[in-house]
Amino acid sequence: MSLRIVLLPGDGVGPEVVDAARTVLTTVATRDGLSLAFDTHPIGGAALDLGLPSLPDATRDACVAADAVLLGAVGTPKWDHLPRETRCETGLLRLRQAMGVFANLRPARHWPGTEDSLPFKPERIDGVDMIVVRELLGGLYFGEPRGVAADGQSGVNTMRYTVPEIERVARVAFELAQGRQKKLTSIDKANVLEASQVWRATVTRLAADYPDVTLSHLYVDAASMLLIQYPKDFDVVVAENLFGDILSDEVGAIAGSLGLLPSASLGAGPGLYEPVHGSAPTLAGKDVANPAGTILSAALLLRHSLKREAAAARIERAVEQAIREGVRTVDVAGAGPSVGCRAFTEAVLARL
Ligand code: NAD
Ligand code: IPM
Ligand code: MN
Repeated sequence: MSLRIVLLPGDGVGPEVVDAARTVLTTVATRDGLSLAFDTHPIGGAALDLGLPSLPDATRDACVAADAVLLGAVGTPKWDHLPRETRCETGLLRLRQAMGVFANLRPARHWPGTEDSLPFKPERIDGVDMIVVRELLGGLYFGEPRGVAADGQSGVNTMRYTVPEIERVARVAFELAQGRQKKLTSIDKANVLEASQVWRATVTRLAADYPDVTLSHLYVDAASMLLIQYPKDFDVVVAENLFGDILSDEVGAIAGSLGLLPSASLGAGPGLYEPVHGSAPTLAGKDVANPAGTILSAALLLRHSLKREAAAARIERAVEQAIREGVRTVDVAGAGPSVGCRAFTEAVLARL
C-alpha cells in the first residue's frame, strides 16, 4: 500500500524547491522499498490564479486525509493588495489550523562549508545544533478580538494562551530535549505580558514530569541577543507563535541562509513539512534558490510522519556532505563558486 504525500508547491520559488525535495524523497523511498503516492494541490497565489480561494476546500481535504504534506511557500506581490481574509498567507494559516499542527519544529545548525558567508568566528558556531519549537496555532496569530476599526484609525490583535495550549507544545519540547542534550529554554515576556505569565507558570509546573531535563527561562529580548552571541548554549528552545516566528528566522544566521532551514509542524494527524523561508519572489524561476531547506524538510517528513529514521539521516548526511565538499548555492557560497537549485539537488542525489 502506498503512503499518500500531498505536495503544495505554492508560489515563487516554492515549485522549484518542492520539485527538488520530491526527487530526493522518491530516490530514497525506491531504495527503501517504500511506496509513495504524490498528489499535487494549489495553495496561496497559485490557487488565487485559478480563481480559487487561497486554501481551496479540495486542498484542505486532501491534506487532512494524507499521510504527510510537503509545502513550498506561499505569497506573491501580485496578490499583496488583498485584504487579510483572502490573502495567500491566510490560506497557509487556515491549513495549519485545519491540520491541527500545533508544534512547529525548526532545527538550526551549523553546516561546515558555509563559513565564507557567515558573520561569525568559526569557534562560536562550530557544533551548534538547536531546535526552536514554535507554538503554531495560538497567540497573536489567532487571538480574538482582532481587526481594524471601521474608521481605519486603529487595529487590534490579542495574545491569548490557555493552559492546555501551552501544555501540549511544552510537552513536545520537553520530550525532544529528553532525546537530545536535555536542555530546554522557554522564551517569553513574563515581566510584561499576562499571556507570558501563564506560559511561564505552566512550563515550570510541567518540568516536574521531566526531571532529567534542565529548564531555564529567558525574556525574548535577551534571548534574541543570546541566541546569536552564545548559540552553543542552546539545545531545545520553546516559544509562543510570534516569538518563535521571529527567533527561528534569526537563528537562520547561524546556518548561513534562510534557504537552509527546514521545519516540521506536528499535531495529532498528518504532519506538515515546509522550509522556514518564504516565496523569495526575486529568485523565482531562475534556478538559484537553495532547495536544502525543503530537502531537509522531506527528511523530517520521513523521520516524524513515516518513522524512517535511517532514510531521514541519509538525506541529512548527503546534504551535509555536498555543502562540506563546496557544492553551494549562491546564498551560502560567499565569494566562492556557486551552483543552481537543480545542480545542488543532483549533488545531493549523487551522495545519497
Ligand atoms: P523570504 O523568506 O521569501 O525571503 C527572505 C530573504 O531570504 C530574501 O532575501 C530571499 O531571497 C532569501 N531566501 C529565501 N528563501 C531562499 C532560498 N530558498 N534560497 C536562497 N535565498 C532565499 O521572505 P520575505 O521576502 O519576507 O517574504 C516573501 C513572501 O513570502 C511574502 O509574501 C511572505 O508573506 C511569504 N512568506 C511565506 C512563508 C511560508 O510560506 N511559510 C514564510 C515566510 C514568508
Ligand atoms: C512562516 C511564515 C508564516 C508565519 C506566514 C507566511 C503566515 O512567516 O512560516 O514562518 O508567520 O507563520
Ligand atoms: Mn516566518
